[in-house]
Amino acid sequence: MLLGVNIDHIATLREARAINDPDPLEAIFIAKRAGAHQITIHLREDRRHIHDLDIQNILQSSFLPVNIECSINPQIIESLLNLKPQRITLVPENREEITTEGGLDIQANLQRIQEIIQAFHCIGTEVSLFIDTDIAQICAAKEVRAEMIELHTGTYANLHLMLFSNLPRTQHSLKSLEIPRASLKELYEKSIQDLQNAAKEAKWLGLEVAAGHGLNYHNLKPILKIPEIFELNIGQSIIARAIFSGLEQAIKDMLTLMQNKEAKD
Ligand code: PXP
Repeated sequence: MLLGVNIDHIATLREARAINDPDPLEAIFIAKRAGAHQITIHLREDRRHIHDLDIQNILQSSFLPVNIECSINPQIIESLLNLKPQRITLVPENREEITTEGGLDIQANLQRIQEIIQAFHCIGTEVSLFIDTDIAQICAAKEVRAEMIELHTGTYANLHLMLFSNLPRTQHSLKSLEIPRASLKELYEKSIQDLQNAAKEAKWLGLEVAAGHGLNYHNLKPILKIPEIFELNIGQSIIARAIFSGLEQAIKDMLTLMQNKEAKD
């Protein structure tokens, strides 16, 4: 299974001080040395972390394939079409959110997404769509001729945090998931089943299947057991560990878990 390292949060730290350090570009050399397969960055409409200049510099200098996440906002699409990236991943975007909260609604934006995909295919860019485990959305991804989908693992990851970490005892407990443990467990099992079914259906339709959001060093195991998933895009947990262990070690630790499939439940 391949690892795409999302380096947005290196830019988040830079933006906290509004200077030029740390530079996300530097992370790419380290990620390559550590054995990562891809760099993922999100050009958000509010430019809260990655900026247009980062995208230009990274596309010019990266030794690794670059996957750019973006919304279907016309100005963003226009600027990325000019830069001819290897891959884009279309994601929903909501200005108020802390991070991407749900999957893209392809059905509600069918024609617009179809046009965007056509335009990127004309310049040789492959297109992935970040979606929930909804079979209707997977069929729509096929209809608009995306090559790939990325399954949103956020629901699964949140349930794992509430069941198996100290999150419920912190100020960031997920209020909507403060429910009896037996119900949490049921939802957790269902979220894994949904990911398995969605991956199978997508692969059967001829789509490549990636997954990401909220994945960390403790919740990988059920995801690694889904044979149709060929790539994981992981950011926050790797950058969080990098603060203590260094980025190279944090990426190597993740790759080791992915390779030996001994990740903890
Ligand atoms: N994949 C997509 C499409 C995302 O939007 C994000 C978050 O930017 C990630 C993967 C990485 O998620 P996390 O930072 O929770 O690992």
